[in-house]
Amino acid sequence: MIRDDEFSRIATFLKGKYGIDMSHKKEIMNGRLENYVRAGGYKSFGEYMDAVERDITGNLEKKLVNMLTTNHTFFMREFEHFEFLKREVLPYLKRTQEVNKDLCIWCGAASTGEEPYTIAMVLKEFFGLEHPQWDTKVLATDISTEVLEHAVAGIYTEEHIETLPESWRRRFFKKHGDGNEYMVTDELKNEVIFRKFNLMEPFPFKRKMHVVFLRNVMIYFDSETKKELIRKVYDSMEPGGYLFVGQTETIDRSETPFQLIKPSVFRKREGER
Ligand SMILES: C[S@@+](CC[C@H](N)C(=O)[O-])C[C@H]1O[C@@H](n2cnc3c(N)ncnc32)[C@H](O)[C@@H]1O
Repeated sequence: MIRDDEFSRIATFLKGKYGIDMSHKKEIMNGRLENYVRAGGYKSFGEYMDAVERDITGNLEKKLVNMLTTNHTFFMREFEHFEFLKREVLPYLKRTQEVNKDLCIWCGAASTGEEPYTIAMVLKEFFGLEHPQWDTKVLATDISTEVLEHAVAGIYTEEHIETLPESWRRRFFKKHGDGNEYMVTDELKNEVIFRKFNLMEPFPFKRKMHVVFLRNVMIYFDSETKKELIRKVYDSMEPGGYLFVGQTETIDRSETPFQLIKPSVFRKREGER
């Protein structure tokens, strides 16, 4: 079992660098790391952390992040957001971006890819035959390299894709291997760009976003970290742009210039900078 001082060392490291607050999750941290630490031949969690901090390749730290992040997600999760995207947001963007036909859409905690691929399917369906004239590629980022590898491979079991409409399954997935796996088609893969990105870092984007999905990730951050992140997201967005957060998440309205459109959907006012 992890000792209190070892637990607090790892929790401090994780929060300082990645914003993830596990200060009340000792059991969970222990459960996720114990076997790995033992199998690695480390005499204690402390010795393991010494190794993580000494490792100049960064590989041990990468593995630590992979083990400690919670990556649960699924296709069509909180599907009301995708309906709203199709019904309200995309018609607005189609109208206002008619000249450039170029949308900037970012999914900031993409996990294993179900969320950005769902967004890409909505985009494909919405633009229909006009889609080839538009650039609507979705930027999908996450801090965990393991989930990103899964996302790029785009392989999911039959149960995973069950929540998708039949027509999308037929159009955007093909059978993979002899088992019950399916792979995202190249047509859809080409619509999503996966990159590793830590939300705690300064945002490197050259262009402002029209739509941001930042769902079910801020629950792992403390309120100060969250507040600072929301500020950065606001600055990174186009006026009139929309932000989706998880349906169980809240943004304190007194602390943000975002306009609340409906629970978990926010907007940067048109005309605002
Ligand atoms: C529970 S998943 C949410 C996935 C998806 N957005 C959804 O709503 O289904 C949270 C994701 O946030 C990622 N994450 C946690 N801290 C992060 C950070 N500092 N920067 C980027 N991604 C982070 C985790 O790796 C994980 O994949």
